[in-house]
Amino acid sequence: MTTAYQQQCEQLKQQPKTWLITGVAGFIGSNLLEKLLKLNQNVVGLDNFSTGFQHNLDQVQRAVTSTQWQRFSLIQGDICCLADCEHACRDIDYVLHQAALGSVPRSIEQPIATNSTNIDGFLNMLVAAKNAQVKNFVYAASSSTYGDHTALPKQEDIIGQPLSPYAVTKYVNELYASVFKRSYDFNSIGLRYFNIFGPRQTPEGAYAAVIPQWTAAMIAQKNVFINGDGHTSRDFNFVDNAVQANILAACSTDVNALNQIYNVAVGGRTTLNELVELLKENLAKHAVNYTQAVIYRDFRAGDVKHSQADISKIEQRLGYVAEFNLAQGIERAMPWYISHLQGQLS
Ligand SMILES: NC(=O)c1ccc[n+]([C@@H]2O[C@H](COP(=O)([O-])OP(=O)(O)OC[C@H]3O[C@@H](n4cnc5c(N)ncnc54)[C@H](O)[C@@H]3O)[C@@H](O)[C@H]2O)c1
Repeated sequence: MTTAYQQQCEQLKQQPKTWLITGVAGFIGSNLLEKLLKLNQNVVGLDNFSTGFQHNLDQVQRAVTSTQWQRFSLIQGDICCLADCEHACRDIDYVLHQAALGSVPRSIEQPIATNSTNIDGFLNMLVAAKNAQVKNFVYAASSSTYGDHTALPKQEDIIGQPLSPYAVTKYVNELYASVFKRSYDFNSIGLRYFNIFGPRQTPEGAYAAVIPQWTAAMIAQKNVFINGDGHTSRDFNFVDNAVQANILAACSTDVNALNQIYNVAVGGRTTLNELVELLKENLAKHAVNYTQAVIYRDFRAGDVKHSQADISKIEQRLGYVAEFNLAQGIERAMPWYISHLQGQLS
């Protein structure tokens, strides 16, 4: 049976569109770029390379044909500059807005910088996209918006108080998007990502995500550090599932699907202790046998203890199907980790 996603991809190949990806040199942005170019779409990218990398774009270039690569143009610019956003939005059908300063701990250390990019920059992008009359504006929201609400699994309309400046910024994005519908009849969809992982997610830096950070540590036979007792749990989601959600959201014309917030996840829950074991098992298949101890340290401020999504809304309204569970995602990502994380450590 063909899925809504497969049908949408076929349709895009027949009738290519012009897309803007902000944050294109980042982890999720570069995965979106690769998929869209493989579907023969025209893509404009906007990035200021603050946390993104030229090497991510180089990897995409190697993964597509030269004809496909010629359909991509990069604007090196800043979403905090309205003129850059206006330039980038010219003649665009769909915006996939990914640019932001991610990470809960970074936002605790740098609340002003996080606010500037994630709220002022977001507002610039909304204004520019509205004025350019793009068809749809899809943006990266976050599971951090569930804050201190303990109910599991997380349903979109039940949220608690934010636990970090980052969570505030991502919630404000949702509020602005909703107000732009009311005030200007401007369509958008917010995708609350739950711990996305996969190729091109950096293991480097103080704010690295656990999967690339631990995998790099294991490859180098260095200690893995777990914040807390290891029972903290997350709904880890492979990046291809997030790419699917973006494409389905952008192309949606259904009034019941537009102007909504969706969880983007698998709907599973894995503890950090289980994750360590899964990574070890997968590395062993590539002849990397991790023998070091796992070290437990204090819980990190601002982190939620447990996270698991209810994905029925995105399944029903956008036809999303989580194609990869955590184990399948790790298996697919492992060759990239092995070839790119060697010698890299945060
Ligand atoms: N990775 C996850 O698990 C996750 C979870 C929830 C939400 N998100 C959100 O998804 C989006 C993408 O995250 P990612 O993991 O790919 O992060 P990333 O840091 O790899 O990518 C972000 C990109 O945005 C660019 N950028 C940052 N500030 C900019 C600015 N002012 N102007 C232009 N470009 C700028 C960076 O250079 C980078 O290329 C972010 O909005 C993030 O908050 C990610």
